[in-house]
Amino acid sequence: MSARLEVRDLTVHAGRPGQAPPILDRVSLTLDPGEVLAVVGESGSGKSMTAHSVLRMLPAGLHMDAEGLRLGDLDLLAASSRALDGVRGRRISMLYQQPKRMLDPTATVGSQVAEPLRRHLGMSRQAARRRVVELLAAVGIPDPDRR
Ligand SMILES: Nc1ncnc2c1ncn2[C@@H]1O[C@H](COP(=O)(O)OP(=O)(O)OP(=O)(O)O)[C@@H](O)[C@H]1O
Ligand SMILES: [Mg+2]
Repeated sequence: MSARLEVRDLTVHAGRPGQAPPILDRVSLTLDPGEVLAVVGESGSGKSMTAHSVLRMLPAGLHMDAEGLRLGDLDLLAASSRALDGVRGRRISMLYQQPKRMLDPTATVGSQVAEPLRRHLGMSRQAARRRVVELLAAVGIPDPDRR
């Protein structure tokens, strides 16, 4: 299911508006199906913050506002957390710069890789486990069944 992503005047700030300069100041972009957009900027300029905002995954204490934030017909600003769960990891995914740090050390790697397969593809626990082992093997993780 492909859809246009539209971000219009996205602003993020810590605390109340006006208290400190915004972290993101009216960022706008559109991304059509099949299109690739590279965002380039120095460290700390807000690239990751933009991606996190689109997924509505801002760190606690940060606030966002936008004139528009839409994935096709879905208004991401107004979407319920259930609707957002259906978007994250399926219609919009994030590849982290430091993936090792982004894995939750309190859960096994297998369960974390299996989660989107179970949730989005409806795989059974066993089918997801088989697929996870295949995926770990495909990227060269030694002894994937044990991992
Ligand atoms: N919880 C927070 N509270 C306040 N400011 C924050 C918070 N988290 C990040 N920032 C600030 O948001 C800004 C944008 O950071 P961001 O991580 O989006 O940069 P980036 O462009 O992805 O950088 P890099 O190239 O290093 O990945 C930075 O100036 C950072 O200090
Ligand atoms: Mg970043």
